[in-house]
Amino acid sequence: MPRQFILASRPAGWPTAENFALTEVPSAELDDGQVRVRNEFMSVDPYMRGRMNDVKSYVPPFEVGQPLEGAAVGSVTESRSPALAAGDLVLHNLGWRDEAVLDARHARRMPRVPGLSPSAYLGVLGMPTLTAYVGLLDIAEMKPGDVVYVSGAAGAVGSVAGQIAKLKGASTVIGSAGSEEKVRWLLQTGFDVAFSYKDGPVYEQLREAAPDGIDLYFDNVGADHLEAALSALRRGGRVAMCGAIANYNATEMPAGPRNRGLVITKRLTLRGFIVTDHQSRAASMTADVTGWLRDGKLKHAETVIDGLENAPGAFLALLRGANTGKMIVRL
Ligand SMILES: NC(=O)c1ccc[n+]([C@@H]2O[C@H](COP(=O)([O-])OP(=O)(O)OC[C@H]3O[C@@H](n4cnc5c(N)ncnc54)[C@H](OP(=O)(O)O)[C@@H]3O)[C@@H](O)[C@H]2O)c1
Repeated sequence: MPRQFILASRPAGWPTAENFALTEVPSAELDDGQVRVRNEFMSVDPYMRGRMNDVKSYVPPFEVGQPLEGAAVGSVTESRSPALAAGDLVLHNLGWRDEAVLDARHARRMPRVPGLSPSAYLGVLGMPTLTAYVGLLDIAEMKPGDVVYVSGAAGAVGSVAGQIAKLKGASTVIGSAGSEEKVRWLLQTGFDVAFSYKDGPVYEQLREAAPDGIDLYFDNVGADHLEAALSALRRGGRVAMCGAIANYNATEMPAGPRNRGLVITKRLTLRGFIVTDHQSRAASMTADVTGWLRDGKLKHAETVIDGLENAPGAFLALLRGANTGKMIVRL
């Protein structure tokens, strides 16, 4: 019988395996217009931590006792829609399960590209890269010559944001991540300078990396990283407020940056965004990224965990930094 994960309970602070339960569900008959999809890869993403809380946000919370959701790619095995046929590869939002039954209009057919794993549609050709692209180019309005700092730089969004900055003419790209191994990988992917935030205060390491300051900060982390960036930003600097993963498991309201007065005195722009509002940029991102991949100009990594039963473990490991590049579960 196909299996799916439900939310067993809500976490307080750091989530644990007990918050997830694997259940079996009988295969449903298809209605007109529906397709059955055998999921091949599913995504675990930091935003799912927010959906485990009973809090209203830009996406509704997961419900206790109900199946989890998230991006997945798989093959259509049965179709009652003229739009899709058995064998089609599709991207949809019913991850966390072996088999998805859904309306064909909620599944997007994706091309099978020789040499490219379908998991690319969850990472380098998917939502995380669109986030990096929009955040850097539209939200923070990167200009050639900018000195750019990216936190969470060895993750799915950060690694691509840094490389796009370089490809679009940034003079220096600085990245921070949580281990020496990740720092080495960042330098191989084209970051000019990289440091581990576990080696010392971000403020000091960033000042050493950019003694003359930075023009643009792509924020995936918040907390001490944001504070350090506000100090390092030059007059008129810009920040893409993408994520604040350092706070996702906090049980109390986190303190704001103590130096936020600098936003005024340095005339900084801090701009938040949600990638789903920017689907209109997907075609442009796909065209650019396909070209960069073909020409070997963009490197990407995936950390792949096997087995649906290991999906909660993959999610928990993502929150603790076990991934380099995109965290993927292969079903
Ligand atoms: N605004 C949007 O629409 C949007 C869309 C997608 C993602 N995001 C945000 O973008 C950020 C990156 O997402 P992603 O999918 O690319 O995830 P990711 O970076 O691939 O994975 C999360 C990484 O966060 C790092 N991390 C965890 N706790 C940390 C802490 N306390 N301090 C510093 N780093 C920490 C870990 O790497 P280390 O080993 O380096 O610690 C971990 O590997 C997240 O904040 C996410 O919420 C926003």
